[in-house]
Amino acid sequence: MRAAVSATYRYLPKQIMTNHDLEKMVDTSDEWIQSRTGIAERRVVSEGETTSDMCTHIAKGLLEQSNTDPNEVEVIIIATVTPDMPTPATASLVQNRIGANNAWGFDLSGACTGFIYALDTGTRLVESGKYKKVMVIGVDTMSAVLDYTDRNTCVLFGDGGGGIMLEPAENEENGIIDSILRTDGSGADYLKISGGGSLHPASHDTVDQNLHYIRQDGKVVFKYAVKGMADISEEILIKNNIKSSSIDLYVPHQANKRIIDSAAKRCGFIDDQVYININRYGNTTAGTIPICLDEAVESGRINKGSLILLAAFGAGFTWGSMLIRWGK
Ligand code: UT7
Repeated sequence: MRAAVSATYRYLPKQIMTNHDLEKMVDTSDEWIQSRTGIAERRVVSEGETTSDMCTHIAKGLLEQSNTDPNEVEVIIIATVTPDMPTPATASLVQNRIGANNAWGFDLSGACTGFIYALDTGTRLVESGKYKKVMVIGVDTMSAVLDYTDRNTCVLFGDGGGGIMLEPAENEENGIIDSILRTDGSGADYLKISGGGSLHPASHDTVDQNLHYIRQDGKVVFKYAVKGMADISEEILIKNNIKSSSIDLYVPHQANKRIIDSAAKRCGFIDDQVYININRYGNTTAGTIPICLDEAVESGRINKGSLILLAAFGAGFTWGSMLIRWGK
């Protein structure tokens, strides 16, 4: 039995930060950001708005869209690297706020590949036959870990996310068909937040050294991301004997338009097959793919029966791809 997506939902904070706003904070330009990344603007949370707040909006939206009573939800998986706090898990906070009295849940740390990791985990729970309603959410509040004096990172990221409801497929053609997931910790140093964990517990010193902010060696990550996204997208097509022309929509993680373009080109996708919204939201880490999915469903670019390919690359390094036949 396959797991299938029965509903999608997204949440983007209202406040827009444009490239021109960033020009006032760091030595950058709208021209540089747009030409090197494809980003024109991103969203940022309002004062006091948190990851669990965004997740709660999404979870409530998923209940409504999938006609689910909160008591029917069995598992809540939240992919994020910016939980409200290290413990309790964001999933517990959300469980309480939506009144999912019979659910258990956990947070999953897979950075930009987090949503695909979480979706695969949820898929296996449904396939086991034990669970029939699994919420999978990917949200990040990147503004909480961005150093707005560091032009190497602050122009790239934004806040927001989305989610899906997973249920047993009713039609055996539909649902999650396959996934390929990878991690390679030898890339750990190139994209990280090093402070606040057991290595560098929070102290005056870690704050003075700015260790609680995200740091990235963009050039190295770019090189691995271009290869990782393209390789894993090609690999899943070959493994399943699917031609790129049969894919209705390629939904890649939105980190840099140049990374997306090069992976799409290598796989042989034409522009109409590729979903891109990085111009409006930047990189929302675990949030990008579920935001894309919900937008694409709403705008009719994903329909019942559509064949969808997801792919992501991120910190860890982590990367993965997934094939879905849309519909329940
Ligand atoms: O989702 C998680 C995975 N993350 C990624 O996939 C991100 C991967 N990396 C990238 O997307 C790109 O490497 C960046 C967008 C971060 C940078 O683009 P790039 O074409 O690799 O630029 P670069 O790092 O080679 O920098 C080129 C120049 C440098 O100046 P010099 O040394 O040539 O004088 C940088 O200092 O651009 C400079 N620069 C900037 N200039 C204006 C770097 N950041 C900025 C900036 N505004 N924000």
